[in-house]
Amino acid sequence: MTRFEYVRAVIGEDRLSAGCSAGYAEVFAPSNIALIKYWGKRCRELNLPTVSSLSLSLGKLGTRTRVEPIAGVDKILLSGQVLGSSSEFARRVSQFLDLFRGDGQGFLVETENTVPTGAGLASSASGFAALTLALDQIYGWKVSKEQLSGIARLGSGSAARSLYPGFVEWSRGEREDGLDSVAHCIDARWPELRLALITVSSGEKMISSRAAMERVVSACPWYSVWVRESEREIHQIRSAIASGDFNELGAIAEANALRMHATTLCSYMPHCSDTQCSDTPLCFWLPGTVEAMNRVWRARRDGLAVYFTIDAGPNLVLLFEQRDEELVLREFPEATVVAPFG
Ligand code: PMV
Repeated sequence: MTRFEYVRAVIGEDRLSAGCSAGYAEVFAPSNIALIKYWGKRCRELNLPTVSSLSLSLGKLGTRTRVEPIAGVDKILLSGQVLGSSSEFARRVSQFLDLFRGDGQGFLVETENTVPTGAGLASSASGFAALTLALDQIYGWKVSKEQLSGIARLGSGSAARSLYPGFVEWSRGEREDGLDSVAHCIDARWPELRLALITVSSGEKMISSRAAMERVVSACPWYSVWVRESEREIHQIRSAIASGDFNELGAIAEANALRMHATTLCSYMPHCSDTQCSDTPLCFWLPGTVEAMNRVWRARRDGLAVYFTIDAGPNLVLLFEQRDEELVLREFPEATVVAPFG
């Protein structure tokens, strides 16, 4: 199935061609950080993941977007700046809008991230989730939140999880057409849970998550171990959330992130004829990443319940509980604390 066919299967041809029911829409979607990562696709066209993933949404941090249908070509603004044709983000947004637009239909998209600038948090997840919510409001598709998550997934896999607050699970699904690979909110609140962003570098990533996971799937000799361990860990982390066991939650999330990064290190085979594996080595960490990881491990040895996760970049996200906030900030004065449950 192609992306176009997927959209038609979910929304319906008649509703897609019915035209706008609102002149514009203004929406917000939260960023999310995966505790069990999405890392590898079982279908590239539909962004279907090899394993299920589980995330925590970041409350008020995310993307605010205003979308208005206009005649002609798309006009895309990020934080008030018009993006030119050389912008990768603008290209991906327009490609996503192609899935829904009628003949001669363009969109004015004004988007703004409420994540602290340069915090190193991916804004593509909240960006594509917000775009999906706005299009739903404009066109009045009347589909379920889960179905909308499947649509957002076509823009960026992790966007499927940014349609909800709190803990969110995105199922791998079994179907080839991807109709069961959708996200749902986990019915659990953990108001004492805290995240803290440690920005080691706010520079451009050397390689996108998309390209990195493709390389890992084709070149990591033990990718199947990653898959097997993730399947085990998602069960464990669900139980840790249900029982409110913080140390279990933190330990599983940290182990999952470390294993994900280990797959990148192992995707370099200098004498391989396939350029996917013989390219330069792939490591997202910078010296500051390793230094902060060691600070976390030292603090933990000294009795502080603090763990970390890292996405496909050099920055850490710490996990701890409210009662330890002062101690964590003493160890990590540079941290920006987030209360995901408000
Ligand atoms: O949604 P993408 O294509 O940006 O991939 C996200 C990949 C990770 O951030 C590394 C993991 C995840 O589950 O968010």
